[in-house]
Amino acid sequence: MNAISPKQTLELTVTERIEEPGNIIRLRLASPDGAPLPPFTAGAHLDIHLQDGGLDLWRQYSLCSDPATNTAYEIGVLKDPKSRGGSEAVHRLATPGARFRIEGPRNHFPLEESATRTVLFGGGIGITPMLAMAQRLHSIGRDFTLHYCTRSAGITAFRSMIAASAWADRVVFHHDDEDEAQRLQLPRDLPEPDAGTHLYVCGPQGFMDWVISSAEAMGHAPSHVHREYFSADVDTTGESFEVEARQSGVTVTVGPEDTIAKALARAGVKIEVKCEEGVCGTCVTDVLEGTPDHRDQFLTDGEKEEGLMICACCSRACTSRLVLDI
Ligand code: FES
Repeated sequence: MNAISPKQTLELTVTERIEEPGNIIRLRLASPDGAPLPPFTAGAHLDIHLQDGGLDLWRQYSLCSDPATNTAYEIGVLKDPKSRGGSEAVHRLATPGARFRIEGPRNHFPLEESATRTVLFGGGIGITPMLAMAQRLHSIGRDFTLHYCTRSAGITAFRSMIAASAWADRVVFHHDDEDEAQRLQLPRDLPEPDAGTHLYVCGPQGFMDWVISSAEAMGHAPSHVHREYFSADVDTTGESFEVEARQSGVTVTVGPEDTIAKALARAGVKIEVKCEEGVCGTCVTDVLEGTPDHRDQFLTDGEKEEGLMICACCSRACTSRLVLDI
């Protein structure tokens, strides 16, 4: 996990909405007065506040624009029928001129720019952070390949943007409905592991699990297989346990269907949450006693083993009691 930068809140306007294939919109966001935007690094995301009637959500979207550009940010948003309301709201609300409250940019998926070889794997809408990475790697003259996997060529977003780029020859497209030879074949498409090679993966969970497990089985060090989950199927249920918020002097019971964040909120102890599915890191809280049952995708394996932090939106306890530093 990277240090979470202090909160930076912006009010940005949609200056352009581009309909991409595959139910994806590309949004360009800029300051209403045209002022330069805070810099970001490849792999960073924005937290976008979606408020409309009874809707009050924060959602995270990776930046896909060139990190060297400070006049506008670009994000890509898939209208996902399985979404919990976020992507549908963006598609409905993000028309030119609309304003959004934004936090960030923050980066939990940074590039190791000293790598001698970088291979990027983007599945579906998971291509977005890879586009920023490709632009950065090209601008610093690094060796890289971007594997872009989609179901079909006709629903492949960002195709024209990639075709017009100076790094188009670094992109290999793979489509599920075409012949076997052009599909992603990891024994062929994963590079040989070595100390200078870094891999980056973003996409649907099954795609990520497949690439990550294949890379690690091939001998790539987990620290060289970088991953960004944009949503996760997280099971937050389990046995009841007790949570003490030590600084607040409050103890609550977290029931089988409950979460730590919700149980504490009812008792007046607020832990900020955004994604509510263990991917954004907003709710990370220090653990003083007890053993967490980690359900998130945000903390690293090493951090999970240490057990000193927990994602309070989804994780539970292996012990009957957890004490949190809040
Ligand atoms: S709110 Fe995003 S990880 Fe918990």
